Amino acid sequence: VIAHLLEENYDGDLVQAVQRCVHQLHGSYALLTCAEGDGRLIAVRSSSPLVIGVGDKEAFAASDLTPLLEYTERVIYLEDGDIAALSPETIEIFNDAGPVERNIELIDWTLEDVKKGGFKHYMQKEIFEQPQAFSTTIRALRPEDIPESLLHPEFVTIVACGTSFHAGMILKYLLETFCSIPSRVELGSEFKYYTPPVQGVVIGITQSGETADTLAALKAARACNCTTIAVTNVLGSSVTRIADHTLYLRAGPEISVAATKSFIAQLAVILQIVNTIRQGTCLDLLLHGNRAIEEVLLMDLTSSVLLCRNAQHIFFVGRGPFYPVALEGALKMKEISYIHAEGYAAGELKHGPFALLSGETPVIALCMPGETYQVMLSNIKEMKARGAPVVGIGLRGDTEIPDIVDVFIPVPETHLFVQILTTTVVLQLLAYLTADALGCDIDKPRNLAKSVTVE
Ligand code: G6P
Repeated sequence: VIAHLLEENYDGDLVQAVQRCVHQLHGSYALLTCAEGDGRLIAVRSSSPLVIGVGDKEAFAASDLTPLLEYTERVIYLEDGDIAALSPETIEIFNDAGPVERNIELIDWTLEDVKKGGFKHYMQKEIFEQPQAFSTTIRALRPEDIPESLLHPEFVTIVACGTSFHAGMILKYLLETFCSIPSRVELGSEFKYYTPPVQGVVIGITQSGETADTLAALKAARACNCTTIAVTNVLGSSVTRIADHTLYLRAGPEISVAATKSFIAQLAVILQIVNTIRQGTCLDLLLHGNRAIEEVLLMDLTSSVLLCRNAQHIFFVGRGPFYPVALEGALKMKEISYIHAEGYAAGELKHGPFALLSGETPVIALCMPGETYQVMLSNIKEMKARGAPVVGIGLRGDTEIPDIVDVFIPVPETHLFVQILTTTVVLQLLAYLTADALGCDIDKPRNLAKSVTVE
C-alpha cells in the first residue's frame, strides 16, 4: 500500500512524495525509500524506532543502535514526523515546517560490547556481565540525579511490560515496605485501555525504550498531567522523548532476546531510588552488590538442571519481593527452554496449581530469611507431600531447608536488597543451563522479539 501511495504522490521530488504519503498513513512505522535517479535514501518514522548513523562520507539508517556500532559512533535520533534525506555527503532533515536541525549524539557503546567475546551465547555473556552492569549503574546514578518529584511523592504508578514489569513489581514492594509510599504497578498493555484514575508520579520501565504499550501508557499518564519518569537502557530512545525525566541504565547493549543484565541494571536503579528516598542508608551495601553476584556466577547448578531438563512443567514460587523474582525465573525458563513454567506467590499454589503437582513437576522455591521464612518452609513441605521434587534457594548456612528439599542452592548471606539480585541470577543461570542442555536456540527464541514496537 505504501509503495503505491508513494508512486501516486511522486512527481520527481522524493522528499515531497514521502511527506505527502505519510500524511495518509495511520499507526506506527519506520520507512526507508529511494527512487531511481535520486542518489538519496529517505528515512521517516512515527512511533517506531529509526536512528541515523553519521559516517565519514557515509550515512546509515537502522532501527537500533547496535548494527551501527561497526560503522560509526555518531548518531542522530529522529523525532516523530522527521524526514531525513541521506546521501554520502549530506544529511538533511525536514518536518512539516521545513528544514530542521537535530543534534549529533555520541554512542558510548563499543563494537566489543556486541561481540560474544568467547562465550557460547550472548545470554551467557550478558549474565556474566551483570556484576559490571550493576556496579556501573549504581555508581553512575547519583542521588542528585533522582528527580525531586520522586523523593516525596503521594502516589507512584509504575508501567512496564515483560521482564521490566517484574522490576516494577519489586519497585512497588520496596517503595511501600521501606519508604511507606503507596504505589501500584500496571502492565502497559492494560493501563492505556482501562485508564485508571492516575495522579502523581508515573514511572515507565523499559529496557529498549521502544515498547509500544509502555510508551502509550506513559503518553496517557502525561495527558493526565502526571510527572513521568523513564527508566531505560537506550540513550535517545522514544521513551526519553516522552518522559519528563530519564534515569539511564548502564548495562551496555543487550543482544540476547531474554533480558538479563538490563533487569539487574533496572534493579540497580530501583535500589538507588529507594536508597535515596531513605537518605542513603544502604549505599555501601549497594556499592558491593556486584561481589555477591560474582559469587553466584561460580555456582554449580548441575543437580537442579537435571531436575528441570526433563520436566514438562515447572513452578517457581516465592513471597514478598521474591514473588516477582519467581515470576522472572519462570519467564526466563519458558522463553528460552520452551518448558512450561509458571511463577506463583507461594501461598497461591494451593488455590489451583496443587492439582498439577506430581513427581514430574519440579518446584523452585525461594525461601529467604524474614517474616515469610517459616510459612515458606510449610509450603515446601506441602509440595513435597504432593510428590513434587523441590529445589530450595536459601541463605548459605541455612540448616532447615536442606533437610526438606531435593536440591539446596545457597546464596551468600547479605541484605535483602542484595538477595533480590543473587536469587535472580541463580534463576537466570538455571534457565540458561537448562535451555543449553536441551540444545535450544537461546539467543533467538522462537516467536519472540527483543523489542516489541507494536501493540
Ligand atoms: C520483549 C522482550 C522481553 C522484554 C519485554 C519488554 O517481550 O522479549 O525480554 O522484557 O519486551 O521490553 P522493554 O524493552 O520494554 O523492557
